[in-house]
Amino acid sequence: MINTQQNLRPSIERLGEGIYQELYELAKPYLDTRSNDIHTRIAFTCAKELLKFYPDADQAVVLAAIILHDVGWKMVPESRQLTAFGPKMKDPDLRRVHEVEGVRIASEIMVAADYDFSKREEILLIIEGHDSRDTALSLNDKLLKDADKLWRFTQTSVEIYHQRFLMGLQEYMDWLEGRIENWFFTPEADRLARETLAELQMNLT
Ligand SMILES: [Fe+2]
Ligand SMILES: [Fe+2]
Repeated sequence: MINTQQNLRPSIERLGEGIYQELYELAKPYLDTRSNDIHTRIAFTCAKELLKFYPDADQAVVLAAIILHDVGWKMVPESRQLTAFGPKMKDPDLRRVHEVEGVRIASEIMVAADYDFSKREEILLIIEGHDSRDTALSLNDKLLKDADKLWRFTQTSVEIYHQRFLMGLQEYMDWLEGRIENWFFTPEADRLARETLAELQMNLT
């Protein structure tokens, strides 16, 4: 049996070599909030896993977008972040702030990294609606959205977030299970989410 939890584990500190590591280093000062450093590294692994199934997707768009998509959270006060996402979200305007600020900061980071100019506009469009837009603009957008959510099913995320949301472990896993059907665009992300959750149910309860 494939151990999905194992496959979705991030490399410890680095994303790899080259331009993605460079983007990540530039993003790091904006990721030290809301556990976004570990979220970004695991979501990066999830995106690479999903890209294996979609050779026609543009890796240079999806991977840069996943590294940069949440840098805007740094502009949202930590005391207010929990009202802006998750099961108890009641402030969609604040969630919107992290997208809009994210576009601004991601743009600056791509300039600093001299990232492929022809990819930047699409990356920023994806970041701009990565949480608030329910539809996907493209295959690249679908993979970004699915990788972003797939991380929630990893052990690291479940352990962090059931506590942060003040929910019991089983209660939180049940909540996650109920979201699978509507969250994912690709059948592969849907399957990986179900597999990781089944493994967690076995290991954690
Ligand atoms: Fe986000
Ligand atoms: Fe995210």
